[in-house]
Amino acid sequence: MSHDKYPTEEPAVVTCGLPYANGELHIGHLRTYVGGDVYSRALETLGQRTAFVSGSDMHGTPVAVNAEREGVSPREFALRHHEKYEATFPKFNIEFDNYGHTDDETNTELTREIVRKLDEEGYIYEKEIKVAWDPIEDDPLPDRYVEGTCPYCGAHARGDECDEGCGRHLEPGEIEDPTSTRTGNPAEYRERTHKFFRVSDLQEYLQGFIDRLEGTSNAKNQPREWIEGELQDWCISRDMDWGIDYPGEDAATEDLVLYVWVDAPIEYIASTKQYTERVGADTYDWEETWKESGEIVHIIGRDIIQHHTVFWPAMLHVAGYNEPRAVMASGFVNLNGKGFSTSRNRAVWADDYLDEGFDPDLLRYYLATNGGFQQDVDFSWDRFQERVNGELVGTVGNFVYRSLLFASRNYDGAPDAETSDEVRERIEETIDEFEAAVNDYSLKDLGDAATALAAFGNEYIQRNEPWKLTDEDPERAEQVIYDCVQLSKALAVLFEPLLPGKAETLWTQLGEDGSVHDAVVADALEAPRGDFGEPDELFAKIEDERVEELNETLEERIEAATSDDDEADDETVSDEEPISDDRISFDEFQDLDLRVGRIESAEPIEGADALLRLEVDIGSETRQIVAGLKQLHDVEELPGTKIVVVANLEKAELFGVESNGMVLAAGEEADLLTTHADAEPGTKIK
Ligand code: 2FM
Ligand code: ZN
Repeated sequence: MSHDKYPTEEPAVVTCGLPYANGELHIGHLRTYVGGDVYSRALETLGQRTAFVSGSDMHGTPVAVNAEREGVSPREFALRHHEKYEATFPKFNIEFDNYGHTDDETNTELTREIVRKLDEEGYIYEKEIKVAWDPIEDDPLPDRYVEGTCPYCGAHARGDECDEGCGRHLEPGEIEDPTSTRTGNPAEYRERTHKFFRVSDLQEYLQGFIDRLEGTSNAKNQPREWIEGELQDWCISRDMDWGIDYPGEDAATEDLVLYVWVDAPIEYIASTKQYTERVGADTYDWEETWKESGEIVHIIGRDIIQHHTVFWPAMLHVAGYNEPRAVMASGFVNLNGKGFSTSRNRAVWADDYLDEGFDPDLLRYYLATNGGFQQDVDFSWDRFQERVNGELVGTVGNFVYRSLLFASRNYDGAPDAETSDEVRERIEETIDEFEAAVNDYSLKDLGDAATALAAFGNEYIQRNEPWKLTDEDPERAEQVIYDCVQLSKALAVLFEPLLPGKAETLWTQLGEDGSVHDAVVADALEAPRGDFGEPDELFAKIEDERVEELNETLEERIEAATSDDDEADDETVSDEEPISDDRISFDEFQDLDLRVGRIESAEPIEGADALLRLEVDIGSETRQIVAGLKQLHDVEELPGTKIVVVANLEKAELFGVESNGMVLAAGEEADLLTTHADAEPGTKIK
């Protein structure tokens, strides 16, 4: 791996977190896969040799529990879902170079080989631990077969993760007040011998790794708490039938399978290997990427950061593989402000979206660019309509349609001219922005760069009014329209990662040879090929009535789901706190002195995992404020940020540092409240 700017000389692999093969895909799931597809296409557009891989996560209790509910074998159940996923992704133009699954031979062999290697290197040991057991059924209760209370934060937790609270991975035996999710029986803890991976010995390596890691700031910052704290060893075996058998012959391992989180990420390697087996090592060599010098980029949901920044690099390191260069962790997708819930049917399903007849690229655009990748995105049909009609129809589609129509009607294609300096420079600027967006791991910037180029095109054609020039100054008219065709060609190239289907249509409309998928950024400046006929419009406006209908259907579904609220929710992505019934008077509100502030400096506080000492300009003075932002924000990026401060809060002392005010932030991610326009520090908020 290098830390050179992309494109580098090395082969890259972009991976997407493996979906458990246990349910239907909704558009919340798609965010990671769209993100991975966009990012891998963007790398290729920069000229980076890239493989894009993933696969279905077939093992573990998430699959076994659901198969049992359906009364079929886990393998049959998982394969059915795997095949469905494999067929669904391409419908959203998500084109993996290889999409495998964790139960196939390649992954099974590679997993066993890697675990043997960890053992040979002295990183595996056996230990007697207490595991949850159903005393009435006499069954072990691994992971999702048990629920109870998280020992770290007290939230209700399921199996191996505290998904409603602190988000931590939970080791067997850690959950408090365990009960069986199968029978509801109170569970007891029994002594069993299990295999452990000595992660605690890798603290120094992991500290270095996290300092080197690139990607989104949540993936770089959150793990510090785990890595810098007391690192626990990791139990890598389970009492289960479904999974990859623990390698080895001894009696102690006879009934054990590997924990699903061991073989799941190894599928990233196995899937790349299968790709090489298909295309040949001359085209793409998985060993070069994984064992020699490749750039490994993982795209995941933010709930599995710990697995990808602690356990996984630890395994790779000991087994002699390359370490990941970057982890991009996406926020969740909410629905009209609330989390998706598969069990309550509060979701927009992937199939529903397609059945509505919407083009997949519209959803790709929305999901990839509606906010920063690590921010939660709210999906609503109104916002979807607004962005499609505003940016795709109004800006991008409008520009290329009017340009190509004018060109085809007047010149049967690109007129005889050369690109002006102004337009060439504007395209070069966009290419630079495109490259910077890839290097910053920002899909939003990628989209913004291309959309801004289309906006420039509209402004350019409007300013130059070629329709007036055809008679007055035909040569100038040719020049302007040639520029517009060049801009349209650049848009096809630069939008390809986000809108691969639409970009290909535009490429064909321009009469270009081959496929835009093979184009690289330099092609955006290559002379347009020449002849073409009248284009069709790339995007169609979404009418208000359509949105009303979609909202009605969704509301009916959400209502039905809400009335079913008593049912245990096994996949709520996030939940809003109820709005308080205790009203306050306007006078009470007036007691709060809220001010606009600007962060001047931010620095960690020694000994405090989460806290930062901020110097905040609030107009009349600069305040020292302590805020819990360290793991959630890039500390270096905070200075200059405008925030909202409670200026008349009592002073407090945190970790020996005085805090003179409070910074307002939203939600678990501490999304900082800021101002929408130019209010200066000190401005009163009312
Ligand atoms: O959390 C999940 O949905 C897991 N199936 C993700 C696995 S990603 C990987 F590392 F394999
Ligand atoms: Zn917790």
